[in-house]
Amino acid sequence: MDKIVIDGGRPLKGKVKISGAKNAALPILAATLLTQGKMELQNVPQLADVKTMEALLKGVGLKIHSRANKLKVHSNGYSGTTAPYELVKTMRASILVLGPLLAMKGKARVSLPGGCAIGARPIDLHLKGLEAMGAKIKVEHGYVEAEAPKLKGAKINFDQVSVTGTENLMMAATQAKGTTLLENAAREPEVIDLANMLNACGAKISGAGSSLIKIEGPTPLTGNKWSVMPDRIEAGTFMIAACLPESEVLIQGANEEDLEALTLKLQECGAKIESSEAGIYVKAPKKLKSSDINTAPFPGFATDLQAQFMALMTVAEGSSIIRETIFENRFMHVGELIRMGADIKVEGNSAIVRGMKQLSGAPIMATDLRASACLVIAGLAAKGITEINRVYHIDRGYEKIEKKFRKLGAKIKRTKVKF
Ligand code: EPZ
Repeated sequence: MDKIVIDGGRPLKGKVKISGAKNAALPILAATLLTQGKMELQNVPQLADVKTMEALLKGVGLKIHSRANKLKVHSNGYSGTTAPYELVKTMRASILVLGPLLAMKGKARVSLPGGCAIGARPIDLHLKGLEAMGAKIKVEHGYVEAEAPKLKGAKINFDQVSVTGTENLMMAATQAKGTTLLENAAREPEVIDLANMLNACGAKISGAGSSLIKIEGPTPLTGNKWSVMPDRIEAGTFMIAACLPESEVLIQGANEEDLEALTLKLQECGAKIESSEAGIYVKAPKKLKSSDINTAPFPGFATDLQAQFMALMTVAEGSSIIRETIFENRFMHVGELIRMGADIKVEGNSAIVRGMKQLSGAPIMATDLRASACLVIAGLAAKGITEINRVYHIDRGYEKIEKKFRKLGAKIKRTKVKF
C-alpha cells in the first residue's frame, strides 16, 4: 500500500487543470449498456473506480478499449446480466448497471453494494422505482435478482433525493414503454451530463437539472461521441486548498456554475474568487474567517466537499459549525484531524470546529475518498511532516493528486509502504 508524505506550511501558487468527473463518468459508462454500436468517450478520468466499472462492463460482454482519457465501448450483442460481489464490494456505484441491464436484457443479478465508511448506503429507492416500472425484484444471498420482460413508464416520487437512484431510473426509463416522471429527482450536474449523453444517443429526456424529469420510451439508442464534464468536486477541493495562507491558484477547466455554493462560502471566509475564460482564480485571504455549513443536495453545499472544508476551518479564525445532513457517518476524518492538533467536537450530525493558529504534521490514516482529500489539505496546512496511510482511497476519485499539488509548489510525494 502507498502512502502520501507532505512537508506542509508552504503556499500554493500556479495553475491546475481539472480532470473529468468521476461521478459523471461512472453513470455514463453504465449507460453504454443501453446503446447499440460504438460509443467514444473522452475526458474520462483515469481512476480506480473507472477501472472497476470497466471490469463490470467487460464482465457482461462489452468490448472496451481505453487509451489515456479516451474510451471506446462496443456494446453489440453482450449476453451477461450479472455484476459480481468481488467487483461491487469495491465500488457502490456498481449499482448503476442494474437499471440498464434490466431494461436491455429483461433480467439482472447485481450484488448488494454493502455499506461503506460513510454510511449504510441503502438502495431501496432504486428498487422501489424499478418495481413501479413493472420489475419483479427479490433480494437473496446478498444479490438483487430483478426480472422485467417489459418495463413500463411510471410516475415515481423519491422519498429522499438520490443521485444514483435518479440516474438508475432515468436510464431504465429510456427503454420503458410510455412516459416516466421522476419527482424529487436529484439536480446534480452529473445527472444533467448523463441525460445529455443519453439524448445525444437518441433518448427523449427533459427536465434534467430540475426536480422533475420526464422520460419517453422506449427509444433505441445508438453510440455517439461524448466528453465527460469536469469534476466539480476535484475543482472544489483545489479551491479550498487555495485558501491556505498566501496561496493563489487558477483552477482551469471547471464549470463555475457547478461551484456556486462553495464559491459564496469561501468568499464569506475572505477569499478573493474571480471566474473568467481562463478559469476560476482563487486568492487566499490575509485572515481566514470561519463560517458554518449545512450539506445539502445540489445546488446546496456538496457533502463531497464537507471534509475538505472542515480541514480549512481547523486553521480559520473563530468557530465553525459543520452539519452533515446527507450521510450518517461522514465524520471519519475528525479523529485524524484531532491527531494533528485540531480542536473539533462532534455532536450528532454536527461538528464544532474551533479554528487555531496551525496544525502539526503527524502520521494519519485515510478512511474514505473525500476524507483522504481532507487529510491532504490538512497536511499542506500543517507545520512539519504528515504521512497519510491507505491512500488507495484517494486513488478512487482523484487523478494524479500529488503531481497536481507538487506543480503548485507543495512538498508532497507518494512512497511505497514495505511490510
Ligand atoms: C452519489 O452517491 C455520489 N456518488 C456520492 O459521491 C455523493 O456523496 C452522493 O451522491 C450525494 O451527493 C456517485 O455519484 C457515484 P444518494 P449516491 O443516493 O447516489 C440515501 C464520492 O465521494 N438513500 O444521493 O449513493 C443515502 O443513504 C461519493 O464521490 C437511501 O436511503 O448517494 C443518503 O443518505 C460519495 N436509499 C442519501 O439518500 C436509496 O435507495 C443520498 O444518497 C438511495 C439513497
